[in-house]
Amino acid sequence: MSVFKSHIDAMSAYKPPLDGRDPHKHLLLDFNERTQPVADVVRQALIDYINSGRLQMYPAYGDITDKIAGYAGVAADQVMITNGSDQGIDLVIRAACREGDEAIIPGPSFAMYKQVALVENLTIIEPQYSREKGFPLAETLAAINDKTRLITVSNPNNPSGTLVSRDDIVTIAKAAPEAVILVDECYFEYASVTVADLVGLYPNLVVTRTFSKTWGIPSLRLGYIIAAAENVRALLNVRGPYDINQLAIVAIRAALDNLDTVESYVDEVMQVSKPMLEAFLDAKGIDYWPSGGNYLWSFPANPLEINAGLLDAGILVRPKADSGGRMGLRITLGDKLQTERLLGVLDGLI
Ligand SMILES: Cc1ncc(COP(=O)(O)O)c(C=O)c1O
Repeated sequence: MSVFKSHIDAMSAYKPPLDGRDPHKHLLLDFNERTQPVADVVRQALIDYINSGRLQMYPAYGDITDKIAGYAGVAADQVMITNGSDQGIDLVIRAACREGDEAIIPGPSFAMYKQVALVENLTIIEPQYSREKGFPLAETLAAINDKTRLITVSNPNNPSGTLVSRDDIVTIAKAAPEAVILVDECYFEYASVTVADLVGLYPNLVVTRTFSKTWGIPSLRLGYIIAAAENVRALLNVRGPYDINQLAIVAIRAALDNLDTVESYVDEVMQVSKPMLEAFLDAKGIDYWPSGGNYLWSFPANPLEINAGLLDAGILVRPKADSGGRMGLRITLGDKLQTERLLGVLDGLI
């Protein structure tokens, strides 16, 4: 037994399979990251900052919140930066929920929601996504009661890629006015679907976003929350003053000044690579879930053999089972050349 709370002692750590990943040895299609290095302007900004002799200072964030708000099309007082969206998820759940509250976390979904809910000792209700119906809207609405303090909407969902419409999110927000509706827009740039413009109208909507997936800096950790100004003021009471790494701010300042480097990558992934992989899977008769993100959850007959074959060829993807226990492979989409390499190897394996 540890010295900590017994329910925390009984939990398991959230440990994604990161060991041995090496971009110089592998094509990394397993974590939905950007598959190309960051743009030269971003790298140069980081080098310049390191050479400027300021590493011994505490971080100072300047006008980065205004810049991000401008990018997101919301007011600056509706934005708070976080140490990745994982911290945003953590802060929102900690600030909203008390022990014994109920959290509706449709699954399967991103592991962090349940992890934090378990730390807070919440009762978790987990309606299931399905390939046919997508987001379990009816089950989510039916599960709402006066103990519900949190409902998560991963939009698009990880691993399934399922998108939830703005109308459905508003329906949930209206049905549970006492709960926080945590809308995780981690893959916003790929999906182009948002409720960021609605946070003033529905103050129980709280959006989390990240610079990890499109912008190529998951290693530096920068995300942001978009919420009604009064919610941001409250969350600032919980976040530490130095939680975000200065280098992340330097990188994103440069990236926001050079948006074309992000937009051209997103276009290639979504307009070229994704249709290529979908057409390949269609031709082979392999089922996959419709996805709004930079990844496809596919269900070949022999997923583990294919996973092993891809690994032998230096390509990493992520095995993920559906709620019925059927194993699938979640495959991140990269650029056109990387997708051609993937399809060449897959063709030999299937
Ligand atoms: C749906 C979803 N939300 C949040 C995250 C975490 O992102 P970050 O690197 O910003 O903490 C991930 C990462 O895989 C994700 O898939």
